[in-house]
Amino acid sequence: MARFLLDVNGAKLPVEAPGDEPLLWVLRNRLDLMGTKYGCGEGQCGACTVFLDGQPARSCQVTVAAAAGSKIITIEGLDQNGVLTPVQQAFVDEGAFQCGYCTSGMILSATALLREHPRPTQQQIIDAMDGNVCRCGTYPRIVAAIRRASQRMATEGSSHVQD
Ligand code: FES
Ligand code: FES
Repeated sequence: MARFLLDVNGAKLPVEAPGDEPLLWVLRNRLDLMGTKYGCGEGQCGACTVFLDGQPARSCQVTVAAAAGSKIITIEGLDQNGVLTPVQQAFVDEGAFQCGYCTSGMILSATALLREHPRPTQQQIIDAMDGNVCRCGTYPRIVAAIRRASQRMATEGSSHVQD
């Protein structure tokens, strides 16, 4: 066991864990942040996506020791004072989920996409979301949600894409 001080969603949180424990397990089992999901555990599905220093990362593939010192943002930290981001709101408005298991990873990946490409092409959406698996097959609604969020951000002149 080792002690770490993690920067999670803007809070400094002390945690004791083996240094090689995946960040995913630390978030879920030690910090009770259950929004980040365990899908494959092998870096293949994107359900465990979080931001590390603003970049999307698969938390099942990052050890807690490696994540310590980085700014970690999970789905619980994406909203701003309880207001959903345009991406979150668009997923709700489009009903872009069925069971919802993939949704937090999808939203994190979509947020990263729109930060880089505020008006993404169809191909850019497909390329950016390719690593996120939805077992329920809600891909068309996920794409629609990304388009809706993009349009809303353009209309509002918003760069409200949290990192
Ligand atoms: S659980 Fe991490 S990529 Fe699937
Ligand atoms: S909504 Fe069920 S896995 Fe995507």
